[in-house]
Amino acid sequence: MRGFLLILAAIAALWLFAWAFIWHGRMYKVGRGSVLRGSIVAYFRWLSGGMWHGGQISNRGWFSRGDKAFTRSGKIPGRHHRPRAAVCAYRVGGNLAAVSALYWYAVAPAAAEAVIAAALVLLVTFGAWRSWRRVRSFRHRRTWVAPLHASIHYQLGRSATDRPDSYIRVLEDRSAGEIDLPFGVTAAPSFRRQIETDVTARLGLEAPVFDWRGVAGPKPQLKWAESPPAPDLVTLEMVRELIEGAPEGVLVLGRGKGSEGVQVSIARESPHLLINGPTNSGKSVVVRSITAQFLFHGGFAVLMDHKELSHTWADSRDGTLPNIAYCRSDAEIHHMLLWLQKEMRRRNAVARAGARRDGRIDANVGVRLLVVCEELNVMAARLAAYWREIRVPGDPLRSPAVIALNELLFMGRQVKMHIVQAAQRAEANAVGGGAARENMVGRVMIGKCTPKTWKMLASEFEMPPMRVKQGRGFLVTDSVHEVQTTWMTEQEAWDLALAGEVTSPPLGMPYVLQQPDAPAISPGEDPVTVGPVTPPRPMLSLREAVDQGVISKSLPAARMWRNRYRQRFPAPAGWDGPTELYWRDELAALDAELAGAR
Ligand SMILES: Nc1ncnc2c1ncn2[C@@H]1O[C@H](COP(=O)(O)OP(=O)(O)OP(=O)(O)O)[C@@H](O)[C@H]1O
Ligand SMILES: [Mg+2]
Repeated sequence: MRGFLLILAAIAALWLFAWAFIWHGRMYKVGRGSVLRGSIVAYFRWLSGGMWHGGQISNRGWFSRGDKAFTRSGKIPGRHHRPRAAVCAYRVGGNLAAVSALYWYAVAPAAAEAVIAAALVLLVTFGAWRSWRRVRSFRHRRTWVAPLHASIHYQLGRSATDRPDSYIRVLEDRSAGEIDLPFGVTAAPSFRRQIETDVTARLGLEAPVFDWRGVAGPKPQLKWAESPPAPDLVTLEMVRELIEGAPEGVLVLGRGKGSEGVQVSIARESPHLLINGPTNSGKSVVVRSITAQFLFHGGFAVLMDHKELSHTWADSRDGTLPNIAYCRSDAEIHHMLLWLQKEMRRRNAVARAGARRDGRIDANVGVRLLVVCEELNVMAARLAAYWREIRVPGDPLRSPAVIALNELLFMGRQVKMHIVQAAQRAEANAVGGGAARENMVGRVMIGKCTPKTWKMLASEFEMPPMRVKQGRGFLVTDSVHEVQTTWMTEQEAWDLALAGEVTSPPLGMPYVLQQPDAPAISPGEDPVTVGPVTPPRPMLSLREAVDQGVISKSLPAARMWRNRYRQRFPAPAGWDGPTELYWRDELAALDAELAGAR
């Protein structure tokens, strides 16, 4: 033990010697004389809580904290703002303790050794424990406490160099916290609002409850806590009233903090929705509940589900909903997307015809359509693969179905066509590019979300504290709302979809069982003849002409043929997007003519 203490004393002596040596040059300035005199002056200055050179580097007083630094950078360590009396007490106390320990050691070495050893063990344990705690909380302080300090220190009259955690305390999960306010803090509402806004934004909280009662008294404090969390389970009955009362185009997702209803308007706020979450987190349950209420309000839904079994309630052996089209195979989804693109163009044409100078559109473009893409990551890859399979030389490289989906995202809103995409990880290329993803104003992040995913999809907001529960997530629009999504059984979804205004499918939509009512003739009635009926003159694209055998050539050959005989080739009778359409009879006549000439 004695040996150990001797080693400690030797280290202390060496350390003092080194300091004296380093200060040597400075001491001359201080003492204007011998090193000894300089050292003594500096020592007493230091002991009295000041700077060794006698100057002031902050505006602290003997009993008041400083808040301004006099250095050129305007920054000094926070400890230099402590009142001088407190610093003096620490330093004098420490020195007295050291001297007393030495004296005690001289008169009663055995007892002193034991006590000093015990004190050293305690000190080392305490230091290790403090360091371990600081290392553990480093991330928390850097991510949450330090940015909050940077926002509010000025309003609280504190220095930027103060240690943030010396007056801000935030629980690790950010569910509660408190701030020590300066003595004599103002109670003005604008001040309170400012601090509340900063705390809410910097800690990424949703509507925390602030408690300003602590402002009274000599040690003012502000406390806050999270508002009561969302319920653990939200059944249909808990939101039925909200759903039934919501206007058309508003979808109720569930209930959030304090059991408030959480809803999103696809008619105004966010025409398209993105649902992102890992497998088994509850994406399909969200789709089920929003689709059912969309149908309840008189819309028509198109479900595209490569997984095939995500929504057996909508299409199964014992019944298919009349207001839903369910596409499962690559071919079905491919053709449905192309049809939707055509439908969007038709709707645009109708809207244009009814558009008025003041911006109003006096036209009925058709029933509101919800296009749901389940398992977006799989869908994008499968559509591309399918296109590679059916594409013939001369066709564009990119799948026209993917282009159609993109077009719907960019232009569907005004003609009541909305897209809901469910993805396990909505990478830009799965959604159709970064620009397309920007159209997803409403994002539902469900289940466990990594900071990386949050940053990718909602970088404009801090990631809020997460609770991993099935069906628990966040709705991100121009703010962030925690939500427990509605748990609707399959049967409930079916019933709800049929309980409201049940619409019939848009005219000509593929893959639907029911077609809109054709003018029917009731039994016993004679058909009414309205003069001679001219059969419609059909138009088709070159591809369709080849498929239907109107042209007896392969598609590449037909294209080459068109290029070669441009003069004799029929003029296009119309356009389907960029595709030229021809009168069927003209193509047939040309085919016969050229076959004869061969
Ligand atoms: N709102 C909810 N309330 C209670 N439980 C839920 C809720 N949402 C989902 N669940 C539970 O989570 C399970 C999985 O949900 P769902 O099938 O929607 O996941 P998913 O994200 O679509 O998964 P996958 O990616 O595999 O398709 C459900 O069967 C249900 O048990
Ligand atoms: Mg699913």
